[in-house]
Amino acid sequence: MNGKKDVLILAIESSCDETAAAVVKNGREVLSNIISSQIALHTLYGGVVPEIASRKHIEKINQVIESALSEAGSGLNEINAVGVTYGPGLVGALLVGVAEAKAIAYAAKKPLIGVHHIEGHIAANFIEHEDLEPPFFSLVVSGGHTHLVRVRDYGKFDIIGRTRDDAAGEAFDKVARAIGLGYPGGPKIDRVSKDGNPDAIFFPRAHMEDAPYDFSFSGVKSAVLNYINGCQMKGEAYCQADVAASFQKAVIDVLVANAMRAVEEYKTDKFAIAGGVASNSALREAMRTACEERGVKLYYPSPVFCTDNAAMIGAAAYYEYRNGTRHGWDLNAVPNLKLGER
Ligand code: KG4
Ligand code: ZN
Repeated sequence: MNGKKDVLILAIESSCDETAAAVVKNGREVLSNIISSQIALHTLYGGVVPEIASRKHIEKINQVIESALSEAGSGLNEINAVGVTYGPGLVGALLVGVAEAKAIAYAAKKPLIGVHHIEGHIAANFIEHEDLEPPFFSLVVSGGHTHLVRVRDYGKFDIIGRTRDDAAGEAFDKVARAIGLGYPGGPKIDRVSKDGNPDAIFFPRAHMEDAPYDFSFSGVKSAVLNYINGCQMKGEAYCQADVAASFQKAVIDVLVANAMRAVEEYKTDKFAIAGGVASNSALREAMRTACEERGVKLYYPSPVFCTDNAAMIGAAAYYEYRNGTRHGWDLNAVPNLKLGER
């Protein structure tokens, strides 16, 4: 099944609360994509508990990898390299994947490729879009990151803007908790907002004069909390759907405005959104409209490739493999790894 020139990557992802393994052919064809989610476990605590995440990864990782290989119909000897997320993320969680990848690569005598988690999120766009090739722009919006990135080439990035405080997904999760929707908040706000009026309440949109591509979401989050407190103090009920929809619109307005400023300034004609929040239906819609108006082709992954998965790590690892990236047996988890660092 592994033709002469085909490159098969076994990829592992364990940076947060999903234990995931995948086999990816030539960076774009997903032969298997197994995800064991811990969401139900962490829901009890209202968010990810790092120590529980690490323990659960240890429990699940072997069976997840075995399933990925068997579903792909490949044995370890057909694999060309092992790719693994080594940062950024929760250190204990990352370590489980890194140790596993090192053990497998060493035993099977295969090259080891450490992958940056954000590079993986961006590469998720290659899986379903054959025509997408660098250069392009990307907005990476997840639970831990909000980055506006210029993708110069495969594995070559310039970060144009980033959040100064909360990540977009983090703001969704915190606001969801405050309005009683629970964890994980993003998908719930997305759903509830469909019944709300996005113009019911005006929440602030942060704009940094000195760094027009940067983001800040702590202000909008505090404004929502103040609004709710205000209502409670007055003994008034608030409309959950209106708060959700108005908050969502405030976040999306800023994401789209900064993204379009980059489109105009850097004159790109391809834009890819990535990360868990990229599955948000209102963000997709707003980006679609804004890109259409400017003649820019918009790309986004299917929801399963937006949130954490190993197929995206396999896609990124393939291009790193082609670029000659190889890591040694001393590869370590780097919880605050910077994009473009080796
Ligand atoms: O990429 P991801 O799985 O993990 C990180 O790398 O952080 O992103 C998870 C984040 C969570 O904050 C979750 O609430 C958010 O993505 N998310 C969404 C949606 N689906 C997931 N946010 C808004 N709308 C959604 N539909
Ligand atoms: Zn992620």
